[in-house]
Amino acid sequence: MGLRQKIWLTIAVLTLITVSLTIGLTFYLYENFYVDKQKDLLLLQGNSLKSAYMEQDGDGFRERLEWTEENSEAEIIYTEDPMKLSGSLYGEAVNDTLITYEERQQLLNGETVTMVRQHPVFDQDILAVAIPLLEEDVLSGTIFLYMPLEDVYAPFDSIRYILAGLFILVLLLVIWSGRKIASQLIQPLKKMEMVSGRMAAGDFSKRIDVSSSDEVGSLAGSFNRLAKSLEEVERSRREFLQNVSHELRTPLSYMRGYTEVLLEDVTVSGEERQEYLQIIHNETARLTRLVNDLLDLAQLEGDSYPMKREPIPFAQLVMDVAERFKLPIGQKQIRLRLELDEEAIIEGDADRLEQVISNLLDNAVRYTPSQGGILMKVEQNKEKAVLEIQDTGRGIPEQDLENIMDRFYRVHKSRTRNEGGFGLGLAIVKQIVLKHGGEIDISSKPDEGTAISLTFQSMAFDEE
Ligand SMILES: Nc1ncnc2c1ncn2[C@@H]1O[C@H](COP(=O)(O)OP(=O)(O)OP(=O)(O)O)[C@@H](O)[C@H]1O
Ligand SMILES: [Mg+2]
Repeated sequence: MGLRQKIWLTIAVLTLITVSLTIGLTFYLYENFYVDKQKDLLLLQGNSLKSAYMEQDGDGFRERLEWTEENSEAEIIYTEDPMKLSGSLYGEAVNDTLITYEERQQLLNGETVTMVRQHPVFDQDILAVAIPLLEEDVLSGTIFLYMPLEDVYAPFDSIRYILAGLFILVLLLVIWSGRKIASQLIQPLKKMEMVSGRMAAGDFSKRIDVSSSDEVGSLAGSFNRLAKSLEEVERSRREFLQNVSHELRTPLSYMRGYTEVLLEDVTVSGEERQEYLQIIHNETARLTRLVNDLLDLAQLEGDSYPMKREPIPFAQLVMDVAERFKLPIGQKQIRLRLELDEEAIIEGDADRLEQVISNLLDNAVRYTPSQGGILMKVEQNKEKAVLEIQDTGRGIPEQDLENIMDRFYRVHKSRTRNEGGFGLGLAIVKQIVLKHGGEIDISSKPDEGTAISLTFQSMAFDEE
């Protein structure tokens, strides 16, 4: 049984029970109330006959009896011998008793008796009242008033039809609204099932319209968010694959081309041979760097990468990296200035932080024209240690700043191979800095220069 049927059935059953109980209870109360009222009426008539019996002579009482009988719906019997009531009202033919021995005893004691029971002759239910008439504490007669219960219940017949009609109406209403509610609840779930089926097949583009603010609505909302982030993941996976294969293909085709020439063309001079080998060697180095960067990124983006935690003199680390860049800086006649606060100590993985500084300095050197300037500054700011690298290079356009740290993102996608990096340097920087709990801030103006600052928690070195 589906959820829809379950909900619907629950609503239907509950309503059915409620309506039946209500109608049943109404009937019961009404009947009781009505029967009680009729009983009171019989008692009233009986008692007024009783006082007539007490106050008037035999004829007067008889007249009153007849008059009452004519004007009442009840049958009235007067008998001087109450014992007759216990036998049969209608002669010897019937042996069943109308009133019981106990009730007869009550009458003899002067107590009024009321009863609802089957009439022994007419085979129908009656409501009856027996009132004893006493003369000086001795029972001298009994007034017996009764009416068939059919008459009592007669007014119900019309109500019964109205109630039955009402019952059917409510039932139809429940069936209709139950179906509506159930399908309203189920519809988003069905849609989710459909969309998740598509997602399993690799299509993440479908969404669910969220119309309600209840639990189902919020489930649909998170489902949409899930679909969106899966779509995003899928998109970046494709893009990544495209980028990687593109970056792999170019060096490989160079290497293949030049090796083929070397292998097949016997007319290649010794000088050309040397040049081609150099190209092949460069491309191999480039490929190696790509693979290493990709491996680094894969490790850093996973959670398993082990990061050392050791105290590092920040200034020393910066100096070491700067030392290694002496050659390219000299070649481009770049002025490099260092302003290093030797007190700054941070905690982290020295090799990884060296990689960070090296990637940043590499960018600064690469994207700054000859005779430009680079400033590397380490400052200790209360509990923060800040490294800032400024250059007077070409800068980064504002619209690229947002994505500059994404993998394979480069401002000039089609630049020459001499200058071309892979666009992985800053992505690696970002991962390492985040893993150290640090912050990165980039500000840049095209044609003026770029400033990148890294902020780390400094170790409590001079706090004692
Ligand atoms: N100091 C800078 N000045 C100007 N542009 C920069 C600077 N640093 C980064 N960029 C821009 O940001 C892009 C991304 O830098 P990133 O270091 O991630 O990649 P890359 O240098 O192109 O390649 P890789 O570092 O992988 O060799 C660069 O291509 C460049 O356009
Ligand atoms: Mg770079």
